Amino acid sequence: MSRKPVEAEIGIIGGSGLYELSMLADARSVDVSTPFGPPSGPIVLGELAGRRVAFVSRHGAGHRLSPSEVPAAANIYALRQLGVAEAVAVSAVGSLRAELRPGDLVVQDQLVDLTRGIRRATFFEAGVVAHLPFADPYCARLRPLLVAAARRAQGATVHDSGTYVCIEGPQFSSRAESELYRSWGMDVIGMTAAPEAKLAREAGICLTGLALVTDYDCWRRDEEAVTASMVADTMRRNVVAAQAAIAEFLATAPPAQPCDCHDALDHALLSDLAGAGE
Ligand code: ADE
Repeated sequence: MSRKPVEAEIGIIGGSGLYELSMLADARSVDVSTPFGPPSGPIVLGELAGRRVAFVSRHGAGHRLSPSEVPAAANIYALRQLGVAEAVAVSAVGSLRAELRPGDLVVQDQLVDLTRGIRRATFFEAGVVAHLPFADPYCARLRPLLVAAARRAQGATVHDSGTYVCIEGPQFSSRAESELYRSWGMDVIGMTAAPEAKLAREAGICLTGLALVTDYDCWRRDEEAVTASMVADTMRRNVVAAQAAIAEFLATAPPAQPCDCHDALDHALLSDLAGAGE
């Protein structure tokens, strides 16, 4: 991917309920075109505490892109083109454990991808084969920085780890599925994290996830099963906590440093081995 001058160092991918970052100074929108089609919408460039930030709203203006329609490859490519080396992906999630309560923040550390292969989840194709390490889907350097920033922001209870199971959707899960994911030890459930994290790794971007718990999915028999309005209502009430965590992270995270995430491609390409007759 050819690089343009650095316009932004840190990317924020906003999910359901986080459609803008009002704290950015000198905000301007840019349209970025990519070989993977247009991103979810214009990318907003702005500054916070001297850091140059690029914000993309995952579901687009008016939340018109369903999880399966989110152009994650275009979003990640566009962020990389703008110079982004580190990013925070914010998402609304259901909780699969009693102690992860609606309104809490979870900085997830693991991911199970149950999307059905209909979303683009790699930049590699057409004769270029690459297998990147993905044992730890999120950047081990950024994650503790985000946890500490979110705790300092004091907007919500912050959980420093968790496994995010990513389903295709757009329907929520059946009770049997919800129970199954709980029996597997999954902590939170959402519909967006998986392709995004894989593509960020391939693009050499350090990624960390910030999951905002909006509901208890449907495994609690004594509570109403999740609905879209439940998710939206909780997000409306608690998005301030997510914004405060992000603002604190942007204001305090040290400048990007050398990281394994940036070098993930170094040992990943198989195609040139084939060319060398190995
Ligand atoms: N996003 C928010 N809550 C969710 C749930 N219960 N299942 C899947 N995605 C979600």
